[in-house]
Amino acid sequence: MKQVVAKRYDFSNVKFMSTAQLSQHYSIYTKYIDSFNKAQEDMLSNIITSNCSSNYSDIRSAQKATTFCLDSIKLHEMFFENLTGNNNKIYGNIEEIIDEKFGSYKNFTEKFKCIAQAIRGWVTFCYDTTSDDYFIYGQDSHDDGVILCAKPLIVLDVYEHSYMIDYGINRELYVDVFFENLDFSVVNNRINHI
Ligand SMILES: [Fe+2]
Repeated sequence: MKQVVAKRYDFSNVKFMSTAQLSQHYSIYTKYIDSFNKAQEDMLSNIITSNCSSNYSDIRSAQKATTFCLDSIKLHEMFFENLTGNNNKIYGNIEEIIDEKFGSYKNFTEKFKCIAQAIRGWVTFCYDTTSDDYFIYGQDSHDDGVILCAKPLIVLDVYEHSYMIDYGINRELYVDVFFENLDFSVVNNRINHI
């Protein structure tokens, strides 16, 4: 796989989140990219196949790092992309989908916010290409709880590093702030590309 390069995001219109919080979170994202690229580099070495142990081997570490870091990179990019502070009133296809599936946007956010309290890593609202249906999914870590063939439409990072600087242990308030900043034009664009 090609080396990954960090994307840039404009957080200038994000409300109720400090520059320190957002810039440190962005730095974490770049560290995942560094680790992913190093793991890819190591995988190209022939020496790495001299030990194929499932107990302890360089190739196992590199393979596990590849999955963990690449999932993290993709999730962080979708999270930063839908966190702009713009277009945060629901409209369009996402409104129709949520009304049909949950009855109202209020019902949807109540369920999403409850899952955000119960889960340790990521909460996503996805279109599942296998069942042709929409679900809220929770992941306890980047590579734990991933649903194959599900396309994320809304992505929220609930790792503590996402909010501790601004909100301490008050995740509930942070999740409210996320919805104040969720960009529905980004979400509708994802639906258009399913
Ligand atoms: Fe994060």
